[in-house]
Amino acid sequence: MPITINNPLDMHLHLRDADMLKTVAPLSSESFSGAIIMPNLVPPVSTKEDVIAYKKRILNASEHPNFTPYMTLFFKPTYSKEFLESVKDEVTAIKLYPAGITTNSEGGVSGFDVEELRPTLEAMSELNIPLCIHGETNGFVMDREAEFVSIYEMLATNFPNLKIIMEHITTKASVEALDRFKNLYATITLHHLMITLDDVAGGMLQPHLFCKPIAKRPEDREALRKVALKAHPKVMFGSDSAPHPQHAKESCGCAAGVFTAPIALQVLTELFMEHSNIENLQAFVSENAKRIYTNIEVPNKTITLEKKPFTVPNSYGEVVPMYAGETLNYTITAIQ
Ligand code: DOR
Ligand code: ZN
Repeated sequence: MPITINNPLDMHLHLRDADMLKTVAPLSSESFSGAIIMPNLVPPVSTKEDVIAYKKRILNASEHPNFTPYMTLFFKPTYSKEFLESVKDEVTAIKLYPAGITTNSEGGVSGFDVEELRPTLEAMSELNIPLCIHGETNGFVMDREAEFVSIYEMLATNFPNLKIIMEHITTKASVEALDRFKNLYATITLHHLMITLDDVAGGMLQPHLFCKPIAKRPEDREALRKVALKAHPKVMFGSDSAPHPQHAKESCGCAAGVFTAPIALQVLTELFMEHSNIENLQAFVSENAKRIYTNIEVPNKTITLEKKPFTVPNSYGEVVPMYAGETLNYTITAIQ
């Protein structure tokens, strides 16, 4: 029986720029109706002009109709209310990175002094601009996300009307925080639903599964699966598909990021089918995001998948996808 998904959304996506953008934008724009585009370019997307020009480059590279890039700015505590008012119509959210925590995040926030952040976060709250956060401290790598939960709580309490999206959550601790604060939401990636640290480093090191936050323990993956498979109303799919050229992954000093955009819907379909939760996939990949992000318009696109083998290419341009060379059980058979 074919499975259909209407208007799939990827609420956390890295498209990069230049040649890499030309490789990856067609892949997401083919099978998704829209995506939240991360601003961690070099230099980061941080002015109205940057946002407008980057959006134009994305649309030019997209190749497929009915795809909307939802643009974000790279958070800076110096953004004034006037600036935010002037840019509000061009951006869907603002992404906050702790300084130096991941790829191209050097200009991010250090210290999390609430008074330093207050003017910008209050203005965002008043203007209804959601705040997306990469929630990791610079502590021990396996504990970084759990340690950040107290910062999420501090922000959620101080700014009760600010929509805060905990990006790419990987732990049971973050899942539990969701229900404690009405203004906390989360994205969950495909790879964190599928792998644990064992898959990354339990045998021969797998550079193409190395990402930030690093994959965690089986009980963490279980907690993520539980809320994703039942499409908990505060979680939504965000792939965090993050392309790096093969030489940057298969090298001494592996770049963080898993490239999943072209295989995400196929693997999610299999996961939801296997767990007899296919009726919740639509909410996880579209409806929840539309309810959480009240400021998006979603173009129409219907994806049909069937249980037919699909062998994942070894690479897309210079980028090696998750499950490269392996055969998946579901294929996209129509896109309308
Ligand atoms: O693994 C990751 N890759 N995590 C991030 O937070 C950033 C991303 C990237 O931009 O490559
Ligand atoms: Zn990301």
